[in-house]
Amino acid sequence: MAVETTFSIIKPDAVKRNLIGSIYQRFEAAGLKLVAVKMIQLDQAKAAGFYAEHLGRPFYEPLIDFMTSGPIVVQVLQGENAIAKNREIMGKTNFEEAEPGTIRADFASSVRENCVHGSDSVESAQREIAYFFSADEIFAAKS
Ligand code: PPS
Repeated sequence: MAVETTFSIIKPDAVKRNLIGSIYQRFEAAGLKLVAVKMIQLDQAKAAGFYAEHLGRPFYEPLIDFMTSGPIVVQVLQGENAIAKNREIMGKTNFEEAEPGTIRADFASSVRENCVHGSDSVESAQREIAYFFSADEIFAAKS
């Protein structure tokens, strides 16, 4: 199995509700190593760039408002099969469909306020990591 890096966001709802530590514990328990971390607040332009693929969809404007509503924590996770593993422990986008024991099943309060984001492919992981981190901010083991 390949060692991968993936990008993750702890969204404003989870930061507000003091869930950073609980979510980090789940990453680490799943064998995902935190190799880059920062707390930031997105402005409209940065959030719009990140979610550009959803422009025009009915949930787009409220999503941008939500994602700019407070601080978020962005991180790079490294581990075997990290992209799929992170998506698995996050659970489905709609928390009502997420498997019990996943982050979204346990903590999310709506489809929008769903606590976490995770890259869904190697290509999006590379793009999303580069959108938030420079190479010298990432402490990933070199293969
Ligand atoms: S989709 O519909 O398959 O493109 O959805 P997905 O790729 O899972 O991600 C959509 C992101 O938008 C957020 N969001 C919503 N999605 C669907 N419906 C509603 N109402 C909605 N509101 C917000 C959803 O949480 C996804 O955010 P990220 O940060 O990508 O997980």
